[in-house]
Amino acid sequence: MAETTSPMIERTVPRLLMCEPTFFEVSYVINPWMTDHVHDTTSERARRQWDALRDTVSRHADVALQPPVEGLPDMPFTANAGLVFGNTFVPSRFRYPERQGEEAHDRDWFARHGFDIVDLPDTVFFEGAGDALFDRGVSRRLWMGHGHRSDADAAPALARLLDVEVLPLKLSDPRFYHLDTCFCPLANGYLLYFPGAFDPLALALIERHVPPGQRIAVHEHDALDFACNAVNLGRVVILNRTSAELRARLEGAGFMVVEVALDEFMKSGGAAKCLTLRLDEIAGA
Ligand code: ARG
Repeated sequence: MAETTSPMIERTVPRLLMCEPTFFEVSYVINPWMTDHVHDTTSERARRQWDALRDTVSRHADVALQPPVEGLPDMPFTANAGLVFGNTFVPSRFRYPERQGEEAHDRDWFARHGFDIVDLPDTVFFEGAGDALFDRGVSRRLWMGHGHRSDADAAPALARLLDVEVLPLKLSDPRFYHLDTCFCPLANGYLLYFPGAFDPLALALIERHVPPGQRIAVHEHDALDFACNAVNLGRVVILNRTSAELRARLEGAGFMVVEVALDEFMKSGGAAKCLTLRLDEIAGA
């Protein structure tokens, strides 16, 4: 009898980087979410929530771990380490000195794991996959947020370095200070986003490139629950919390929503997506 499984069909498992919250806390204020939460996090609760996220992600992906470093409390937000594209890693250049100490550890991890490190000019602030998200419908298209953390000048620099199209989006609401807090490209060309976080030109650019039927615009209450800060792995969308209404819309578009409570990390201004970094962003997908 003929072999029924084809060697041509290879199932690729996504790979993500996470960093244990051993030293996580809010010890300074560099975004509005942190303002009322200095020394207000509980390490056991943060650990439990992070473990639940890692377990959930692990059901759909391989998780690599970066060692945490004492004195760098925001390291669990691996999305900000830099931008991965194929085998290339573009390290972040953090705007605030509080996070600049992470850069050497990130470079080191990626160099040791076989990535080619390619640098932006050192005059440009750029906060990695927190502000730079590949489109899931059009290959080699990168959406880049600027206005709070990353500089607009990072857009042409990334286009040159990676030979990709970069669509810059100016962010206008300080509560949504990284692009991944208000914008999430999903499988099959869908886009989950909060229109209120963008300036009018950015909104027009989004509307020009994403057809109305593919745009899932969320209301402010879902945006404030960090529903757009989602990890999308195939059909699965992992997020902190969603209203019943948004859940129904995502399910209507063919997604399966999994909630993982991450309120300890929201005190620092991040949730599911910020706590992960895709290591397998490929040129064609
Ligand atoms: N406290 C961190 C900061 O302000 C949170 C980072 C969240 N990361 C993200 N990709 N949105 O930098």
